[in-house]
Amino acid sequence: MHKITMLGTGLIGMFYTMTLHGRRGQDRVAVVYSRKEERARQFAQEWGIPRWTTDMAAAIRDPETDVVVIGLPNNLHEQAVLLAAEAGKAVLCTKPLGRNAAEAKRMLDAVEKAGVFHGYLEDLAYTPKTLKALKSVKSGALGKILWARSREAHPGPHSDWFWDKTQSGGGAIVDLGCHCIAIARNFIGKDVKPLEVMCWADTQVHPIDAEDSAVGLVRYASGAVGQFEVAWTFRGGMDLRDEVSGTEGTIWLNHWLRTGFEMFTAVGERGYVAEKAEGDTGWLFPVGDEVGSLGYADMFADMFDSMDRGVAPMETFYDGYVINAIMDAAYRSVQSRQWEPVILEDWRGAEEAEAGARLTDYDEAHFLIKREVMPDGQVKLILKEKTSGRVVQKIVSA
Ligand SMILES: NC(=O)c1ccc[n+]([C@@H]2O[C@H](COP(=O)([O-])OP(=O)(O)OC[C@H]3O[C@@H](n4cnc5c(N)ncnc54)[C@H](O)[C@@H]3O)[C@@H](O)[C@H]2O)c1
Repeated sequence: MHKITMLGTGLIGMFYTMTLHGRRGQDRVAVVYSRKEERARQFAQEWGIPRWTTDMAAAIRDPETDVVVIGLPNNLHEQAVLLAAEAGKAVLCTKPLGRNAAEAKRMLDAVEKAGVFHGYLEDLAYTPKTLKALKSVKSGALGKILWARSREAHPGPHSDWFWDKTQSGGGAIVDLGCHCIAIARNFIGKDVKPLEVMCWADTQVHPIDAEDSAVGLVRYASGAVGQFEVAWTFRGGMDLRDEVSGTEGTIWLNHWLRTGFEMFTAVGERGYVAEKAEGDTGWLFPVGDEVGSLGYADMFADMFDSMDRGVAPMETFYDGYVINAIMDAAYRSVQSRQWEPVILEDWRGAEEAEAGARLTDYDEAHFLIKREVMPDGQVKLILKEKTSGRVVQKIVSA
């Protein structure tokens, strides 16, 4: 059983505490930190937390707790991580790890130097659908992964600090792109080096300095492409979808809207429907188990199980650092309108990966490009002549 210091009493502090204290979980929040006394007291009372404080350092150094969970705005992650490392405690930090790779690297260095357990709380890599899909990909069901598309779009975040670039580090890319990049990395393989990024971003709707929409391509050493699509401009709720394609198969995942629970109400129910739902009347898409569907439950299970077993969890601060480095390249690409290299001063995966087209022999003289059964029942073969390189077609009967 672990005793936890929870930093932050906003949306994520609430989801994290709800997950940890739900389902008769053994690990408990023992002290909660919030800026305002009234909020700290109210949160502690609501979630049965014995102690609260408005002093962040005191919460981290609390003698009873052994794990610090960070659910604070992005500009406070580094300070909290450094204090937790100094206190010699396990530290679990929400996404994005840093506002940029330099910040993330300092956090990674601090936890590694202190030798404390570190976990990157990337919940969307842990949704039940993602975990099942990852298992299929790892077992080879899709062959070699070529493309992983991840999309997160909603009408915009719920607190002022997200919209202020100095506190958040950026707009939709840093807020949502970090999830999409993490998902694509898991499908493509974390050992595969991200090489360069091409990204479009714009401020299409909101009067802010940061981007509220972006589409980016991350090219990996294996030849695979990770595509992220993010927006704070999407109307209709929260669109969370992933698509993976490989040489032997395809997976499509829809995590949030229209996933099988659809409800109509003319009068509404005067309250919360699901995260980022835009209304409570008409056709609604409620979610039966939010903390399960968003991956929080499996994420904390992995974090605490790994801690107990003395092994690294699926997502560590190193992953957070790599993701920050990819996002930094995306921001540079938005400015330069060119492919920009991913600068990783610390790369721990493979240097080389097999990229490029596969050659499948058809006969001695030809490679097979494609086989298709046509409406008349004949089979059409598209072949490449080995000596001339010419592409030809051949019709055979089925
Ligand atoms: N799916 C996810 O993993 C997910 C979802 C939402 C948010 N987050 C992350 O969690 C973190 C917090 O986001 P949130 O949605 O809970 O935000 P929020 O605005 O709902 O809550 C932020 C918390 O920090 C406190 N706070 C704000 N400014 C502060 C300051 N200057 N000093 C001390 N405390 C301050 C607020 O009072 C509140 O308790 C962010 O890093 C965000 O990216 C992750």
